[in-house]
Amino acid sequence: MAILEARAISKSYRVGNRPITVLDTVSLTVKPGEFLIIKGESGSGKSTLLALLSGLERPDSGRVLIEDQDITDLHEDELAPLRNATFGYVFQSFHLIPSLTTLENVMFPAELAADPAARPKAEALLKRVGLAERSASFPRQLSGGEKQRCAICRALINGPRLLFADEPTGNLDSVSGGAVLELLLELHREHGTTLVLVTHSQDIARLADRVVTLRDGRLAAGTAS
Ligand SMILES: Nc1ncnc2c1ncn2[C@@H]1O[C@H](COP(=O)(O)OP(=O)(O)O)[C@@H](O)[C@H]1O
Ligand SMILES: [Mg+2]
Repeated sequence: MAILEARAISKSYRVGNRPITVLDTVSLTVKPGEFLIIKGESGSGKSTLLALLSGLERPDSGRVLIEDQDITDLHEDELAPLRNATFGYVFQSFHLIPSLTTLENVMFPAELAADPAARPKAEALLKRVGLAERSASFPRQLSGGEKQRCAICRALINGPRLLFADEPTGNLDSVSGGAVLELLLELHREHGTTLVLVTHSQDIARLADRVVTLRDGRLAAGTAS
């Protein structure tokens, strides 16, 4: 069974009077435990594709299935808890909540899921990524690399079966960016979490199970370089 499947999904945006087609009947199947990289030039629709795959946005046509369940027409009330339980997200710009501490940011999705073990789980994750001593710090007090490690903990706290990371090193210098990619890969290996990563890093592309490239709204089998 596929963990995630897109069947001929299309998406257009209207810019002024003109519709621009960002995704044109894109089909993609992600297998459990797979490490998939999505590449493509800036503006090629990578973030749009992730938003559709993860149910954050809806396609204009086509279907999206999570473990054979068609989520395309699910009401937001049903979709939101499904997303929270199934997926973790890591974004280029971290998206941490500025008024919450590192520990509170990590606990947040678990508290939404009413998990009584939110705190010990968050503490264990922060320890795992070397941020235990920054638990009481606020995002503004963290370096870029530390913010992203915090965001990764938050993405993992509900034990997602699939982790989406959208250019997670885009705002980091090469050293902390390398450490973040290393960490994502280690976590993927340790927990068997399916990993869908948007990145331009060629080093990491060599380690992926599969690389696909978005071009002109279509998906092509990509190369590692
Ligand atoms: N909400 C939106 N409204 C209008 N155009 C959008 C919107 N979101 C994305 N786009 C356009 O869709 C195209 C793909 O964007 P995006 O998915 O962010 O690409 P990428 O992540 O590959 O850089 C771009 O031309 C972008 O301007
Ligand atoms: Mg993007």
